Amino acid sequence: MKKKRTHLCSEITKKEVGQTICLSGWVDRRRDHGGVIFIDLRDRYGIIQLVFNPELAPKSLEIASTTRNEWVISIVGEVSLRSPDMINPNILSGELEVKVREIEILSPANPLPFSLFDEVHEDRRLQYRYLDMRKGAIKNNLQLRHKAIFAIRKFFDEKEFLEIATPILSKSTPEGARDFLVPSRIHPGQFYALPQSPQLYKQILMMGGLDKYFQIAPCFRDEDLRADRQLEFSQIDFEMSFATPDDLYPLVEDLMKSLFSTCLQIDIETPFQKMTYDECLEKYGTDKPDLRFGMPFSRIDDIIQKSTFSLLQQQLEYGSIAKAICVAEGASFSRKEIDDLTSFVSKFGIPGLAWMKKTEEGFSSVIVKYFSPDLLLEIEKRLNVKNGDIVFIAVEEESKVNQALDHLRRHIAKEKKCIDPNLLKFLWVVDFPLFSKIPDSPFYQTERHPFTSPRFDDMSKLDSDPLSIRALAYDLVLNGYELGSGSQRIHNCEIQKKVFALLDISPQEMEDRFGFFLEALGYGTPPHIGMALGIERLVMLLAKTDNIREVIAFPKTQKGTDLMMKTPSYVQEKQIEELHIQISEDA
Ligand code: AMO
Repeated sequence: MKKKRTHLCSEITKKEVGQTICLSGWVDRRRDHGGVIFIDLRDRYGIIQLVFNPELAPKSLEIASTTRNEWVISIVGEVSLRSPDMINPNILSGELEVKVREIEILSPANPLPFSLFDEVHEDRRLQYRYLDMRKGAIKNNLQLRHKAIFAIRKFFDEKEFLEIATPILSKSTPEGARDFLVPSRIHPGQFYALPQSPQLYKQILMMGGLDKYFQIAPCFRDEDLRADRQLEFSQIDFEMSFATPDDLYPLVEDLMKSLFSTCLQIDIETPFQKMTYDECLEKYGTDKPDLRFGMPFSRIDDIIQKSTFSLLQQQLEYGSIAKAICVAEGASFSRKEIDDLTSFVSKFGIPGLAWMKKTEEGFSSVIVKYFSPDLLLEIEKRLNVKNGDIVFIAVEEESKVNQALDHLRRHIAKEKKCIDPNLLKFLWVVDFPLFSKIPDSPFYQTERHPFTSPRFDDMSKLDSDPLSIRALAYDLVLNGYELGSGSQRIHNCEIQKKVFALLDISPQEMEDRFGFFLEALGYGTPPHIGMALGIERLVMLLAKTDNIREVIAFPKTQKGTDLMMKTPSYVQEKQIEELHIQISEDA
């Protein structure tokens, strides 16, 4: 490169008019206009128009005429005002241009596999990620992600949290997914596990007296991918000693406040709403409800029982439950739309969806005849039904009703476009059950990791009634996404052993998997509490996208592959042998 760039494309303003400058970047577009060539030059920061004029620099014009889109060039020229008929109001530098004197071609480009101006299938974008990131959304999202991480580090630093890196070659941590295992060459037959989270390390940092820890922590989970899940992702992971949830909630609320203000200049309202797990499930069928729109569920078992609707009554006798949802202005749904919604919920194990429309003449549908006027009035009151609304009723096993109505609620809100994309509805979900029962077994399971403390007032139920114990755990939900979760930790060795035992972890397994941890708990452990927030999910919401891959530089596809590097891939036989492992014939 003969000349060093003096300016970025975004830095050229009217103040620079008359100055000679040097710019470097990509040919975004080239246009030939009767002997004059125009090139839109693009760098990370912006776009500016270059003009190659035969009178000013005939040699440069000749070289410019050989360039194609995405060639990398460097130019020297003079900034000038465009003639009024050439002004482009759509770009920042639309009133300016650079009259080029010299051009140097730094790198020509082969014809691209796709035009950067076209919509392209995501697989192609992932295969050619470096082209995809030259323009548009990915670049902006990566900038946003950088800004967010920078703000997070500043936030925790100012509050005396230490950023401490924990190992990647680690031991299995029970976070509920499969581990990625790394075979050891030096220790035949033994494996490291990539951390699903730094859970144990951060608790041990508290035992080590570090008091306040945080980390932008890489995590790895071998689980089925979804639009908001990747095999590798990062967490804002933190832990603090001598603290309780009352210290943690305002800390996280302040963090969100500072993030949304730094990244989007939005002032969010705190404190956030809190709802118990039971209430979430009862009203919204999920522990991560989207509160940007209404449509809560109401139990109507009692109303069905008082009706003459014997089919549904029989189902209730067999253990089903009845829930209803009122959709505002849904009375305008056509028969076809209602049939489509019925087949939509059937995917979740609900064979039929009963419905009633409400108009000025009252309720109407084939099932109205089963309900007395008093019962209809009760439905109207309980669900706050207005003229023009429709009520859907689902009767099935509780978990199926919850799942189906949760999907139905979100589906209708999306279809009817009744979600304000600018709304931010944060929610703390609290009082999760600590255990659930493993069917046909005397043992229990936890949805969260087993280091979660029972609520202090439920501690005595560990021996008598484990299923009724509420966990001292909380999730932060934003617009229907689980952003993060955390808990007060067990800091007493005997209680930790009791929890392990209820989870069917034998004393031998306890020793093998968690011996070091149980021992550490016994040498003076401060009460401690912590949380982890998914960075990609947070940036997704900041960037207003619902695809996690849009905020990751090199994401994996839904099938867990990297289309650019082509991973996973086979390795040399010699490498496999060194690791003392064998690949089975059918692999
Ligand atoms: P948990 O397993 O709930 O808790 O994870 C915390 C947050 O991490 C994000 N997350 C993911 N993001 C993208 N892809 C994934 N596969 C994925 N899995 C999880 C979510 C989630 O809310 N150690 C505990 C936290 C603690 O107790 O401190 C933990 O990891 O946003």
